[in-house]
Amino acid sequence: MRGLVAILGLLPALLVLGGVVHAVDERAAPATLQVAEADEWDGLPSGAGREEVYSLCGACHSLMIVKQQGLSRDAWDETLVWMVEEQGMPELDPDSLGLVLDYLAAHYGPDRENR
Ligand code: HEC
Repeated sequence: MRGLVAILGLLPALLVLGGVVHAVDERAAPATLQVAEADEWDGLPSGAGREEVYSLCGACHSLMIVKQQGLSRDAWDETLVWMVEEQGMPELDPDSLGLVLDYLAAHYGPDRENR
C-alpha cells in the first residue's frame, strides 16, 4: 500500500517531467528550421552577400542558373560585367560588387562540393 501511495505521489512529477521533455523536443527542431531557411533563400547557403545575390540575380532569372555554375572569382567578375553590359543588370558599386563576387566565388567556385 505504501508503495502504491508513493507511485501515485510521483505521478504529478512524472507528468511535469513529460511536459518538460516535450517542450525541449519542440525547441530542438533545428533540422526542419534549416530546411525552411534554405527554401526561403532558394537554396543559397548563408553568408555575407546572400541577400544581394538573392534579390539582384533572382530578379531576372532563376537562381538555378547561378547555382549550377562553378566559377573562379575572375570568371564570376567577367560574367557580371557581361550581365551589366549585355543583359541590362544595374551596375553595382564596388563594395556590393566585391561582396557578391566573394560570395559567389566562395560558394560557387570551381572546387565547390555541392554541385
Ligand atoms: C537585368 C537582368 C539580369 C540580372 C539582374 C542578372 N542577370 Fe544573369 N542573366 C540574364 C539573362 C537575360 C541571362 C541569359 C542570357 C543568355 O543566355 O542569353 C543571364 C544569364 C546568366 C548566367 C548564365 C550564363 C551562361 O553561361 O549561360 C549566369 C551564370 C548569370 N546570369 C548570373 C547572374 C548573377 C550571378 C547575377 C547577380 C549578380 C545575375 N545574373 C543578374 C539577366 C540578368
